[in-house]
Amino acid sequence: MSRRPAFRGEIVVPGDKSISHRAVLFAALSGGGSRVRGFLDAEDTNRTVAMMQSLGAPVEKVSPTELRIGGVGLRGLSEPSDVIDAGNSGTTIRIGSGLLAAQPFLSVITGDPYLRRRPMARVVRPLTLMGASIWGREGNQFPPLCIRGGALKGIRHEMPVASAQVKSALLLAGLYADSPVTVTEPLPTRDHTERMLSAMGASLSREGASITVAPADRLDPVDRVVPGDISSAAFFLVLAAAAPGSELVVRNVGVNPFRTGAVDVLRRMGAEILFGNERLECGEPVADIVVRGRGLTGVRIAPEEVPGLIDEVPILCVAAALADGRTEIRGAAELRVKESDRIGAMAANLSALGVSCGEYPDGLWVEGPSRIRGGIACGSRGDHRIAMSMLVLGKAAGSDVGVDDTACIDTSFPGFRAMLEGLSG
Ligand code: S3P
Repeated sequence: MSRRPAFRGEIVVPGDKSISHRAVLFAALSGGGSRVRGFLDAEDTNRTVAMMQSLGAPVEKVSPTELRIGGVGLRGLSEPSDVIDAGNSGTTIRIGSGLLAAQPFLSVITGDPYLRRRPMARVVRPLTLMGASIWGREGNQFPPLCIRGGALKGIRHEMPVASAQVKSALLLAGLYADSPVTVTEPLPTRDHTERMLSAMGASLSREGASITVAPADRLDPVDRVVPGDISSAAFFLVLAAAAPGSELVVRNVGVNPFRTGAVDVLRRMGAEILFGNERLECGEPVADIVVRGRGLTGVRIAPEEVPGLIDEVPILCVAAALADGRTEIRGAAELRVKESDRIGAMAANLSALGVSCGEYPDGLWVEGPSRIRGGIACGSRGDHRIAMSMLVLGKAAGSDVGVDDTACIDTSFPGFRAMLEGLSG
């Protein structure tokens, strides 16, 4: 290996992306004025702000991370005068589809070239069964989606893939239905929607793998603080975990149990990771995370663990490249249809840097540790998490690893490069 620096310090990462999207979207539907602090000021979440504004909800930025939202009520939105552009944001278009399917008007929603290749039938089909009319490209599979919403029926839906976005879209549409909506998950996924809608007065219940929402007339406004995003923290957790002698503190991170799979994996790989000052803030668990690097060993990541670390697979591949031995991830076919094909992207980039690795249809294996070749530009494929993962690998290995396009990082983590460069090795 090249010289491996150790990292020490204390950081605060930007607000949680999933919670930020939901906070602005749901608050706009409430029956009063809401305040959201700690909002993620990034391209993806700002697309949800723009969507709600285009539907007639007053959303004002008091500062980049503080929003004042005038709730128009569940039935107070109006028809947008133009196409809604979700940019790169799967959460905006998928949860947004659930909302638009319930509105008595026409909406067209699209996104950037990457989003327009991502599968939408998983939301279109059940929303159509509820009574909405939705058209999309190639047999209603891909954006743009044209949605004529209206009166919805309650349904029971078994999701073929584990997806918090799909679950959220259906629960949101369920608020408007004539009878309850029940969604059954193949594996548990992040429950931010359930927590937030319950806190706003909606009636939700869970029985085993099924979540039921009752129709609602009103949501209460919120005054909430968004915790730091564990998916953003993960880049730094891996950086410190893989370098013996490191000690890093990440303050105020959301540690929802459906989001902490990467922490469990890093602990299994040998890292010491502690949660301090654990508390519940606005219904979400929050903690200060302390990580001490001790060198890592390869592990197997099982299919049932995947939803809890779905966005962390690229950075866990980096951990695997820095670890001793073989790491294998299976049951992660969903990664093929994220912002990029993340299995293909990580395998190609790691191979180019000299890391021994290979693909499965539903995952990949990585054998470490490898000497990381410097002077190579990796391809981000327009995917923020691929770009950040490769930059972390370069920093961890003390090698000069470039990335061809890093503008995509702004979709979830503006300021990432400065934070990475600011950490002293
Ligand atoms: C998200 C759910 C996950 C995740 C995405 C955010 C959400 O997607 O990958 O980054 O906020 O609900 P899926 O619903 O496709 O699993």
